[in-house]
Amino acid sequence: MPEFTKLHQQGKLEELAQRKGSRPISALTAYDYATARHLDEAGIEIILVGDSLGMMVFGHEDTTNVSIEMMTHHVKACRNGVNNSLLVADMPFRSYQTPEDSTRTAEILIKAGADAVKLEGGREVLPQTKAILLSGIKVIGHIGMLPQKVKEEGGYKKKGKTELEARSLIADANALADAGISALVLENIVEAIAGEITSSIKIPTIGIGSGSNCDGQILVINDLLGSYPWFCPGFAKPEANLAKETARAIRAFITRIGNDTQE
Ligand code: KIV
Repeated sequence: MPEFTKLHQQGKLEELAQRKGSRPISALTAYDYATARHLDEAGIEIILVGDSLGMMVFGHEDTTNVSIEMMTHHVKACRNGVNNSLLVADMPFRSYQTPEDSTRTAEILIKAGADAVKLEGGREVLPQTKAILLSGIKVIGHIGMLPQKVKEEGGYKKKGKTELEARSLIADANALADAGISALVLENIVEAIAGEITSSIKIPTIGIGSGSNCDGQILVINDLLGSYPWFCPGFAKPEANLAKETARAIRAFITRIGNDTQE
């Protein structure tokens, strides 16, 4: 176990794993102190500093321009707001091409304040996953639709639609679970296949756009809050409309200071 790993979070992932099949795991993304603190105080169990920050914070088209520096900056901000939740950091695109790269990146993210790291991919990232685990860092896997492969795959596509794809996802999930990862994100996978994966592995699955047959659910915080009106995936079901409220407050300020040009 690296000495820089936060001691108070040891065992948290094991605790969540023991809950498999009972109360679902709650997970949301955060990129800044205030949001992380809100989530922590509300009792969200996993806070992910997702590389979705490329879109949500930087306005990029996808996650492929996110750097290790961008991730550490936001992990540090979130760390200051988190006391109880497990803080997980995404390994950004091209930061885990070899086992050596992977352990280096994972250690940088842990030093910045993350309790565990998440990386995208199935059996093709097994050597990288094993190397990180060997260095004593907890890993969350991520299979199905992989945002870091959006350019390669020509768009965001549902996974597990064909028998071949479904079997391959199940084999990926089992290989990662056997390697010793702590949980597995299933993104945009056909609901029945996500269910099959969930019942075929011992570790918890955390779904996003993959139906209700997973051991937990994760969403991008902006999609839940309705704060990013320029794009919101259909499955997200916003619980608020912060975009509307933000625009209203800004207009109220403009009027309050007498700057209203529409009078
Ligand atoms: O970057 C991200 O936000 C993710 C998701 C699982 C929500 O990886």
